[in-house]
Amino acid sequence: MRVGLLGTGRIGSFHARTLATHPAVTELLVADTDPARAHDVAGTLADARASAAALDSVEAVLRAGVDAVVIATATDAHSDLIIRAARAGLPTYCEKPIATDVPGTLAALREVERCGTALQLGFQRRFDAGYGAVREAVRTGGLGFVHTIRAVTADPAPPPASYVPTSGGLFRDCCVHDFDIVRWVTGREVVSVFATGSNLGEPFFSEAGDVDTAAALLTLDDGTLVSCNATRYNGAGYDVRMEVSGSRGTLVAGLDARAPLYSAEPDGPKAPADPWPDFLARFHDAYVAELDAFLDVARGLRPTPCSGHDALEALLVAEACELSRRLGSPVRVDDVRAEAGAGAGGDAR
Ligand SMILES: NC(=O)c1ccc[n+]([C@@H]2O[C@H](COP(=O)([O-])OP(=O)(O)OC[C@H]3O[C@@H](n4cnc5c(N)ncnc54)[C@H](O)[C@@H]3O)[C@@H](O)[C@H]2O)c1
Repeated sequence: MRVGLLGTGRIGSFHARTLATHPAVTELLVADTDPARAHDVAGTLADARASAAALDSVEAVLRAGVDAVVIATATDAHSDLIIRAARAGLPTYCEKPIATDVPGTLAALREVERCGTALQLGFQRRFDAGYGAVREAVRTGGLGFVHTIRAVTADPAPPPASYVPTSGGLFRDCCVHDFDIVRWVTGREVVSVFATGSNLGEPFFSEAGDVDTAAALLTLDDGTLVSCNATRYNGAGYDVRMEVSGSRGTLVAGLDARAPLYSAEPDGPKAPADPWPDFLARFHDAYVAELDAFLDVARGLRPTPCSGHDALEALLVAEACELSRRLGSPVRVDDVRAEAGAGAGGDAR
């Protein structure tokens, strides 16, 4: 397959190597609005099995006759690029989120539907072994009836200041992973949220209207209560966990020997010597697996494991949280959906 990759920053350069070393890929064409970055990334792939080259523009990649395209640009370009890829008839993988707002998301989804192209979103936790095991335990009843979920996303350090204004903010950029995985693990939809946030770190978050730390209480359609906590400041390492508690006990994804946690008890677990440093290390295998799945999707071998509809549902929860934070009161997801003209509710099952 000949594959195009748009955006060669932090995650794009990682995806470039995964694609260029995949057995199904013969050629990788990359582009970035910073052409030097695209050329640098192509240059690092000289040892890969596929040939890799940087083209001068996104348009050049879309016109090069590639079989599929991977979008890993800054978030504010996703919707437009999904639309252009759909019009070019290309199966498309896009990093989350589709857009920082519902209109941008709906515009992309309508065009994908009109053109009949495949779209997969980058919610890689669906490909992580621990999250998969928790989902299985929930589905098979191993935990009894589930009543409480605690989801944590803690970055070791903030992203570059330039990333924040186009990111959509902590709920849309970061917690959106938790919102997606809660739907996927439980098979339930989020009915209402009550969210808050704070700024205790560097001022560039508040200057962008964002928060660096957030908490949200979600109520699912079966009454399960979910608390989500996220921060850009966890110097001990990258901590992404989900604790699912049911009538028979608690199962945890992300609690392993590298989780950056330690016990206050004298005989409790000590801090790990080699904590997870960042998302690329923690989810390395999941990122590889999601692109492997996408290459199957692009060849018509399987349906998309993470659809545009899933991305819309996770974004609506993020929108509700952002609104709740600003209003200081609970918000129903269906009210956000109706306000945005986003149609009927979802079905995570
Ligand atoms: N799934 C995950 O765990 C995960 C992790 C990190 C980032 N992301 C997502 O990936 C995307 C990129 O994040 P990042 O951390 O790599 O950011 P980044 O800032 O490191 O890289 C973004 C790149 O996109 C390029 N770019 C911007 N607009 C473009 C356009 N119109 N056409 C071509 N190139 C363009 C920039 O020049 C830059 O090189 C974001 O949407 C982010 O939400 C997902």
